[in-house]
Amino acid sequence: MAAANPEPVLILGGGLMGLAIAHQLARRGDRVLVLSRRRSEAAGFVAAGMLAPHAEGLSGDLLELGQRSLERIPAWVEQIEADSGLRCGLRPCGIVVPFRSAAERDAYPTAPFGQSLDRVDLAREIPGIGEGWPAGLLFAQDGQIDNRRRLMRALERACVGLGVTFQEGAEVLSLEQGATGALQGVRLRTAEGDEQCLAATKAVLACGAWSTQLLPELPIAPVKGQMLSLQGPREALQRVIFGPGTYLVPREDGLLVVGATSEAQAGFSEGLTPAGQRQLQEGIAALLPAATSWPPMERWWGFRPCTPDEGPLLGTSGIPGLWLAAGHHRNGVLLAAITAELLAAALSPAGPDPAQTRQLERFRWDRFR
Ligand code: GLY
Repeated sequence: MAAANPEPVLILGGGLMGLAIAHQLARRGDRVLVLSRRRSEAAGFVAAGMLAPHAEGLSGDLLELGQRSLERIPAWVEQIEADSGLRCGLRPCGIVVPFRSAAERDAYPTAPFGQSLDRVDLAREIPGIGEGWPAGLLFAQDGQIDNRRRLMRALERACVGLGVTFQEGAEVLSLEQGATGALQGVRLRTAEGDEQCLAATKAVLACGAWSTQLLPELPIAPVKGQMLSLQGPREALQRVIFGPGTYLVPREDGLLVVGATSEAQAGFSEGLTPAGQRQLQEGIAALLPAATSWPPMERWWGFRPCTPDEGPLLGTSGIPGLWLAAGHHRNGVLLAAITAELLAAALSPAGPDPAQTRQLERFRWDRFR
């Protein structure tokens, strides 16, 4: 293990990215302080937990990043479970994408990575699937993790066990830079309302859709998603169904997580809307009619951090000493493992290896210029 660095690395944001990075840094002996404004708004508590580079139909560099992360997830989860003593609820259950026609299926960007299904195959994979889906793709390599109830808690426990410190309710108001432009610290308001400056020469900005409040030049905008959950019979649905506009994610105990609207015009407007909830209800009826009679448990919403190409912003920023791990849009849970690995490498004295450097370069924050 490397010698402990006496100055803590600040992690701005106590969501999934912040915790995943804090965990990797702490594992190698770095001192880490996580500043979190309001953990309940973190996308890690809001997302459905799909691990779906293929089902989401990703392409290009983002598909490759997602595939690399998917490969790492079992070992990453093992580390978190060993460090925390808690299960993360990883389920490599496969994801089925149903289509309105075989032509639509064959044109799907990730079709070559899936198993082509006709109606008979579909009904075998998803007993009770709605009429009107004559074709599908099975991505057996995709899956899910119980992010809301398990992964986030396990990561928090793992971090605490490794000595990571937390300030909850701490709102970072600004980044402080020295004469050379390098990071010198942050100004923050504590939960008790005191304003203070915290010296730091290394920090990671992982504030999701709110990252632009500290660094307005970042090309990130919120895309609101509304969700709900239903309590189904245990094992009524084995695989995730990823339909157009609605997906159904069955947890081991029968809880069915249903997502999600995609509202780019909603900004940070809080709350559920009748139209959003209706969309989900119609999606459930089309995908799995039996589930319309399952009792609703919870309804919630969140804000995806979206960039112009829907890929994350990773690595260095325009401020020396400040690194970025934000803008993961629809794929934050999937990309947490690779993000933590890349950021830990970027902050290590040895720096990233050539393969990691290539990945960081592809997801530079200023690639859109
Ligand atoms: N990854 C699914 C969503 O963002 O709704």
